[in-house]
This record gives sequence, C-alpha cells and structure tokens, in this order.
Amino acid sequence: MEILRSKAQLEAYIERNREMGKKIGFAPTMGALHEGHISLYEAARHENDLVVSSIFVNPTQFNNAEDLKNYPRTVEKDLEKLDDSGFVDAVYLPEPEDLYPDGVQSKKYSFNGLETQMEGASRPGHFDGVGTVVEELFRQVKPDNAYFGEKDFQQLAIIRELVHQKKIPVKIIGVPTKREASGLAMSSRNKRLTGEQREAATVIHQTLLKVNGWFRVVTVPEINKRVQEIFENERGMVMEYFRIADEDTLKETDFFYKDRNYRAFLVVFVGSVRLIDNMHLD
Ligand code: PAJ
Repeated sequence: MEILRSKAQLEAYIERNREMGKKIGFAPTMGALHEGHISLYEAARHENDLVVSSIFVNPTQFNNAEDLKNYPRTVEKDLEKLDDSGFVDAVYLPEPEDLYPDGVQSKKYSFNGLETQMEGASRPGHFDGVGTVVEELFRQVKPDNAYFGEKDFQQLAIIRELVHQKKIPVKIIGVPTKREASGLAMSSRNKRLTGEQREAATVIHQTLLKVNGWFRVVTVPEINKRVQEIFENERGMVMEYFRIADEDTLKETDFFYKDRNYRAFLVVFVGSVRLIDNMHLD
C-alpha cells in the first residue's frame, strides 16, 4: 500500500495511474477506522482498478474546538487496518495546506435545503466544512467512483447534490451501514461507551426496527409519540431528535404518501456520547 504524504505525491500517483487508464475508487475518512470504513473499500475493490483512501481530520466541519481536539487520532493503527484489509492501494495523508492553500476556512454552499435540517440544524456550518473538503479531495484524487456510508445519510445526499451542482464527473455510491452483531451502528464514538452503555445503546437500532414495523400501519404522529416514550423510559439516554423524512428531500413528513420513499432518523445521547443512526422504511 502506497502512503502519499503531500498533494504533490498524490497528484504524481494519480497522474501515473490515470495514464494507464485505471478506474479509480475513493472513500475519504477522518481516521479512527473500523469495519464500517473498511466496508467502503470492500465495495470499491469490486468496481475499480485502483482503490484510494484518505485520512484527514477536517477542522472546518467541527462546530467547536474541543470536539476537534478530542477527535481520536490513530494513524498508525489506521494504516495497519487499511493494509491488512487488502482492499486499498494507496492512502492520502494530506496536511492542512495541501487541502486549504488559502487558509483553513469553509466555502459557503446552498444544497437545496438539504443542509438546513437535522445535522445541519444541530451543527451550524458543518456541511459547508464537509462540502469544502470533499470538493477539494475530488479535484485532487479525480475518482471515477466515490463511496460514502448510509450511516451519515444526510452527508451522502449532500455530496450527491454537491457533485451535481459543481458538475464534478464522479459517481457517488452509498454503502449500507455496518453494524455490530447487537445491531449498534459502528462508529468511532462507540469506543467512548462503557460496556453497560454499549449494551443499552442497542435500543437505538431496536427502535428503528420497531418504526419499520409501524410504517404505513401507524400514523406518523403516533410513531413519533411512541419513539419519544421509549427514550423517556431509558435511563442515561436523551433523545436529541427523531424524525421520518422523505428520502429525496430529507424533509420531515407527517403523512406517508403512496409513491415516496421514507427513512427514519434518530439521534440519541448515551451519557455524553452523541450517536446517530437511520433506517430505510419498507
Ligand atoms: P468519517 O466519520 O471518518 O466517515 C468516513 C466514511 O465512513 C463516511 O462516508 C461514513 O458515512 C462512513 N461510515 C462511518 N461509519 C460507518 C458504518 N458503520 N457503516 C458504513 N459506513 C460508515 O464522514 C466523514 O468521516 C467526513 O465527514 C468526511 C466525509 C471524511 C469529510 O471530512
């Protein structure tokens, strides 16, 4: 596995491989890698000649300095995991100046309203930061295909909108959420849970499964009420938001229309750890 430590190294590597006509698959990360990240590279391996990873803790997408400071940094372990997976040909480890030559700040985007709800409402400026770094990574890596987890479904939708608006020639592919055997969605934040909390947090996925069972049987307001009640009775947990939204617009719905697709979104604090999950309803 090649380790590319600067924009110059990356661009030389990409140039060489594009000349050979290789199809490039790419998935960006912020490190602290787990099986969920690896599943992106597994998907990419099947559909590309060259699979490229990146690890960069992107300052502009954090809302507060404390959160950025506390983000786990485990590069050596990450490199080992990527290499051991056998799915990855090269990993890009840029410095801030490689991605932000004019200084570390976000561009401003408008993503058709996709950015104003849910994670966008809870974390102002977050998606401007994500858009800025992903747009620059796409310009440097020049992938044919790029892979993003459905775990961050709103991010996936925003990246699709970004490449559409900017006419960036890359196909965006969503990869299903990788879960623990317990159903808990894999996340670098799970490491901060105690054993007991990790066990208790399985109620998040179980609730989404229940919601799926109520889909088109129970009214939306009644589902909202039931979910609220579940978390009111969970000690040590606080629900930040639950909503059922149209899968294309991400707008909250209060009624299930016949020919639309819906997804349930849930964010819960387990102690001080904020966990997010979502599920397609069918
Ligand atoms: P990060 O949180 O490191 O996630 C990198 C990618 O892994 C994202 O596409 C995310 O959706 C995916 N992922 C995380 N957990 C997953 C799981 N359990 N199953 C499947 N995929 C999973 O998302 C970011 O980084 C950043 O915002 C980034 C896009 C890199 C821009 O800085």
